[in-house]
Amino acid sequence: MMFKTLTISKIVKETPDCVSLEFDLPQSIGERFAFKPGQYLTFKQVIDGEEVRRSYSICSSALNTKSISVAVKQVEGGKFSTFANQGLKVGDKLESMKPMGNFTFEADPEQSNSYLLIAAGSGITPILSILDSILESEPKSDVILLYGNKNIKHIIFKDIIEGLKNTYLSRLRVHYFFSRQQGAVDLFNGHIDADKISRLGKSLIDYSQIAKAYICGPEQMIHSTKAALEQEGMDGNRIKFELFTSSTPVGKRNRKQSSDIEKTIDLTIIHNGKNHQLKISEEDCILDVALDSGTDLPYACKGGVCATCKAKLDSGGVDMELSYGLEQEEIDQGYILTCQAFAKTKALVVNFDKAL
Ligand code: FES
Repeated sequence: MMFKTLTISKIVKETPDCVSLEFDLPQSIGERFAFKPGQYLTFKQVIDGEEVRRSYSICSSALNTKSISVAVKQVEGGKFSTFANQGLKVGDKLESMKPMGNFTFEADPEQSNSYLLIAAGSGITPILSILDSILESEPKSDVILLYGNKNIKHIIFKDIIEGLKNTYLSRLRVHYFFSRQQGAVDLFNGHIDADKISRLGKSLIDYSQIAKAYICGPEQMIHSTKAALEQEGMDGNRIKFELFTSSTPVGKRNRKQSSDIEKTIDLTIIHNGKNHQLKISEEDCILDVALDSGTDLPYACKGGVCATCKAKLDSGGVDMELSYGLEQEEIDQGYILTCQAFAKTKALVVNFDKAL
């Protein structure tokens, strides 16, 4: 069973357009929901007769084994986010996959590092879990958090962050940035972007002392801040990022009607120890054809971002349209995002059991 039922134990309205949902973790499923800071949960829900799957980062501490929390920001027209913000109450149940994702932090109590965390809006959710882990589990390390929002009212988890600042006075520095509220210091007005990173480097942050940077937010913010950090001399492999959405259209390949194309490629899907044999064409997205055939495969965003549909290519080759959800190392090892993969060899074997 890919999905397990979680029961909502607490709902907190964090800002006018964001709720956090806390779920109890009874002993029977607690082990399955153990997670690394930075990972996410994928929920499945039927809304208006349609099955919707969405992934949300875990914002609670990985040291808390009794409950697990995510934050859901309402997006305009967003089916699940509207449902979560307006239609859920304590005691309701949601179906969730186990925690997944590569944007993770592993604490080492012996390390004495400086970390830079950069978040915009609801990008704070995985960052908060990482921040918590650094402060609680690496007592010799310190952290700078740069956090961008529209205005002070939209700071998600403001009280928690302020509490952490008070508890870890000498180890945590927080700088808030507001895009729609003018403050006295120009540096902190506007979005976090390349210019801000460069100006911070001249005044407040010595990037040569930063062991690792973690960035989460919209695509443009991630790309510009990552590039700026590299410009400041930080090596790319010291910068980890998590995209919440991609602005690149999904399935940008101009696909022909599948009925026009002969299905001559042999696709073998391995899932839960079973082999499924399919005939496909090179215009067929591997995840879509496998789902159409009735195979119950894991997926969420279908946009190359979340990596829920990750599988190992045991043989054959594919073209991938987008691969944000994979690290270069995973691509080198033969992992693919099946929602973005199209066959480029006459036979291929795609193994979901090796992606666990
Ligand atoms: S389903 Fe999210 S990357 Fe494929």
